[in-house]
Amino acid sequence: MPHIIFIEENGMEKKAPAELGQTILEVALANDVNMEGACGGNMACATCHLVVMSKWYDTLPKPSDDESDMLELASGLTRTSRLGCQIKVTEELDGLILSLPKRFAS
Ligand code: FES
Repeated sequence: MPHIIFIEENGMEKKAPAELGQTILEVALANDVNMEGACGGNMACATCHLVVMSKWYDTLPKPSDDESDMLELASGLTRTSRLGCQIKVTEELDGLILSLPKRFAS
């Protein structure tokens, strides 16, 4: 079973078991990671924004145009930002490291 590593806002790492085919958003919600996912994965909110550790970024399929458009609305956007609801778990993503953006920074 692959594991996804989330770095939470407080800097703590959480290693979450993931089922193949689950989205990263689903993995986060099943493991009490603080990710909102307000639209339920319908690519209409950007509250599942996360930052992919750069060495992993090119392992992921490229974002669709719609995902890129939605990411423009995310606060704290970075070069390796993605939407958690648009990434599906595969064996190749075992050990993927993601961090939650500092969404509420003033
Ligand atoms: Fe809304 Fe991903 S959950 S865009």
